[in-house]
Amino acid sequence: MKILMVCLGNICRSPMAHGLLQHKVHGMGLNWQVDSAGTSNWHENELPDQRAIACMKRHGVDITYQRSRPVIAEDFQEFDILYAMDTSNYDNLMKMARNEEEMNKVKLLLSEVFPEGGEVPDPYYGGDSGFEKVFKMLDQATDKVIRRYAF
Ligand code: 4NP
Repeated sequence: MKILMVCLGNICRSPMAHGLLQHKVHGMGLNWQVDSAGTSNWHENELPDQRAIACMKRHGVDITYQRSRPVIAEDFQEFDILYAMDTSNYDNLMKMARNEEEMNKVKLLLSEVFPEGGEVPDPYYGGDSGFEKVFKMLDQATDKVIRRYAF
């Protein structure tokens, strides 16, 4: 599987989702390609947010190899699924998709956990507790993604 995690800045939620899924599939010996990107280029080339790095480190996952980048048109060909963290990211990806095949690759990440969907809340303007809450959601969601597509 080739999976792209997408949020707004690509410095908080999607780097955490990217790092966590990559850590899990690597540990299982699965040959998946995992990456992340932002619907904006506001933080291009930046490291993940220090609070995201610290949160992931508390859970044993290093994400300091990551650098923020915007979603590009080629991502819709390169990846099997583009997972949006929230409905705003989802809407922006759907606007970028050039045809039905590309639109079909766009999903809300939490739709893997809840049939009704739901959003991974933006932790950027909050404290560490927001990042821990995001981590728990991403932990559940990435387990479901692996169960669904690995076996
Ligand atoms: P992310 O969080 O989309 O989870 O990376 C944000 C990061 C930066 C901003 C907003 C959200 N910003 O406004 O710069």
